[in-house]
Amino acid sequence: MAQTPLFNDLLTSHQSGHALAQGFYASAEVFERDMEAVVMQEWHFAGLANEIAEAGAYMVFELLKESVIIVRGKDGNIRALANVCRHRGSRVCLEHRGTVSRFVCPYHAWTYDLDGGLLNARMMGKDLDRSALGLKPVACDVFHGMIFVSFADAPTSFADMRAELDEPLANFGLAHTKIAHRTRYPVQANWKLLVENYNECYHCGPAHPEFKLTHPTHMSADKVEPFNDAMLARAAAQGVSTAFIDRVGPFCPAGSVDYTYSRHSLYEAYDTGSKDGKPVAPLLGALKGYDQGASDLYVGMLNPILIYNDYAVIYRFVPVDHQTSIQEIIWLVHEEAEEGRDYDLEHLCWLWDVTTKADKHIIEKNQEGVNSRYYQPGPLAEMEFYTQRFLDYYIARLSA
Ligand code: FES
Ligand SMILES: [Fe+2]
Repeated sequence: MAQTPLFNDLLTSHQSGHALAQGFYASAEVFERDMEAVVMQEWHFAGLANEIAEAGAYMVFELLKESVIIVRGKDGNIRALANVCRHRGSRVCLEHRGTVSRFVCPYHAWTYDLDGGLLNARMMGKDLDRSALGLKPVACDVFHGMIFVSFADAPTSFADMRAELDEPLANFGLAHTKIAHRTRYPVQANWKLLVENYNECYHCGPAHPEFKLTHPTHMSADKVEPFNDAMLARAAAQGVSTAFIDRVGPFCPAGSVDYTYSRHSLYEAYDTGSKDGKPVAPLLGALKGYDQGASDLYVGMLNPILIYNDYAVIYRFVPVDHQTSIQEIIWLVHEEAEEGRDYDLEHLCWLWDVTTKADKHIIEKNQEGVNSRYYQPGPLAEMEFYTQRFLDYYIARLSA
């Protein structure tokens, strides 16, 4: 895409260590570039592999104009197929999930196998090269039971991430979780304001009275450090990894997805992220007990995952248009946990529901201010290090 003067001005005027200029959050043109240069190149959490356990079970994942069928094949493998008929382009799958033996386009009934191959095209004659008319494959990978999709032509690899994170993640048993709850919070703001907000806890003190009772991370690093030091022995005793792995930007191996893993301490009265600090679900995986900590895992730049001992939370930042986004949150519990018996949805979801509602409010007020004629990008605080790192990554992608 040719770069217009406006766009070049925006890029060259950006001052590292500062917020972005208004145009980055208020322009439909920049939004289109964001989608191509960043969002479509990234990986996106779509669902859990055990949601489509049987051959023919599928789910449809949608992002902006794209719709993808994620299906378990007869060979047991999970594939992602563009939900676009190779005849005249109709959506093939209209239901969001189900189980089928083949996919039949609702328009003229072209029929596709579970691996996307074209099985039958009515009245098209023997000469039609069916082998060239299968549903197009979309990049798809499964990491600890979590299915990720990318729309990139040359998507980054999970190999380095697997090699380094398989062990630290092993005891959490993420591949043996189920989705207890999945919900969407519409936010009237540019998608980057959601990501920036998630990446810093500078706002947690003033904005999150509930979170701040649970996680000391609302304080400066020197104050948080003693809590983390005290957690190390507890974590070791409970089979929880306290590895610190940071493979983002210059630390990311060539061709690899960016990834991170770290663990931080909660306040000691808190076993987990809950209203009273008491557990809200059975222990995950092979954990032995509570270390009063939580792990931060990133798969790519857009999939932060927070892992307590009894549940995990996956975040998705879903862009809709230049000033509309969706914050999606997915709560995972042990796959054998039963609602009503082992967990109560209200208790399980309380902290991240109340926190996300507060985030929605502050992010929308952020967007309103950014839209003002008086807005000027200000300097970031030390506690906004990861936000700055996201902005550096973003500017580098757009400049490439
Ligand atoms: S568009 Fe699918 S069969 Fe015609
Ligand atoms: Fe927040």
